[in-house]
Amino acid sequence: MRNLEDIKQALANTQHLVVFTGAGVSAESGVPTFRDALTGLWENFDPEALATPEAFEQDPAFVWGWYEWRRKLLLKVQPNPAHLAIVELAKRVPKFTLITQNVDDLHERAGSTDVLHLHGSLFTPRCFDCGNAYQFTAAPQHSVEQAITPPQCVSCSGYIRPGVVWFGESLPEAEFKTAFEAAQSCDLLLSIGTSGAVYPAAQIPEIAVRNNATVVHVNPQKIPTTLKKEYSLQGAAGEILPLLL
Ligand code: OAD
Repeated sequence: MRNLEDIKQALANTQHLVVFTGAGVSAESGVPTFRDALTGLWENFDPEALATPEAFEQDPAFVWGWYEWRRKLLLKVQPNPAHLAIVELAKRVPKFTLITQNVDDLHERAGSTDVLHLHGSLFTPRCFDCGNAYQFTAAPQHSVEQAITPPQCVSCSGYIRPGVVWFGESLPEAEFKTAFEAAQSCDLLLSIGTSGAVYPAAQIPEIAVRNNATVVHVNPQKIPTTLKKEYSLQGAAGEILPLLL
């Protein structure tokens, strides 16, 4: 594979590698993506009813129950070879930045540190009203259909909400700034398992392309490439990434 040789060369020479991940990097762990046909979460659930502040205000138990179901799923799965390969890649380059759109903790469980979570995390709930952090006390025990009244904030009695970024909300400022600066200054960016459908996160590979970095898309779908230094490696992340090591 000629592309693979070019990319390995770019990896050997990189001064600053950025890895940008989406739901596809966790797919082989058994975590559903959002937009894959049949299995994607947004193929089966309505994002308007689950991933907006208005949805939470309208039916907090339905929304909290759905996110608790997702958190419960995560407690049962493990990082896959793609997460592990990313940990290895980080050790081999002078400067490394890991940016994820994922709200799971599989990068951290694989051993990655300083992960920039652009869309928040299922493990950092907070009060909907005052923003106070909330500590989970027990693993959730329920099925997808089950609505659960959210716990209440100890300071203001507001409902606790998931620590994820919903549609219509801003990205966390510090993560956003660091991620965009990294996209501007890196010389190599691997964009792994994302449909590129959600902005502003989807700008990250675009910024790197504009700044003349080499950009590699890893996805079972063929990603259209426009420039000489942009590559598409077609396949599952857990199979492709170990080939780069
Ligand atoms: P999507 O579900 O939109 O896209 C997942 C991508 O992963 C698709 O391009 C798939 O082809 C690809 N994919 C599937 N299996 C794969 C595998 N084994 N290896 C590599 N790639 C694979 O997920 P995201 O792009 O992450 O927002 O979605 C972006 C945002 O939309 C999410 O962060 C979420 C959602 O609404 C929030 O939670 C705020």
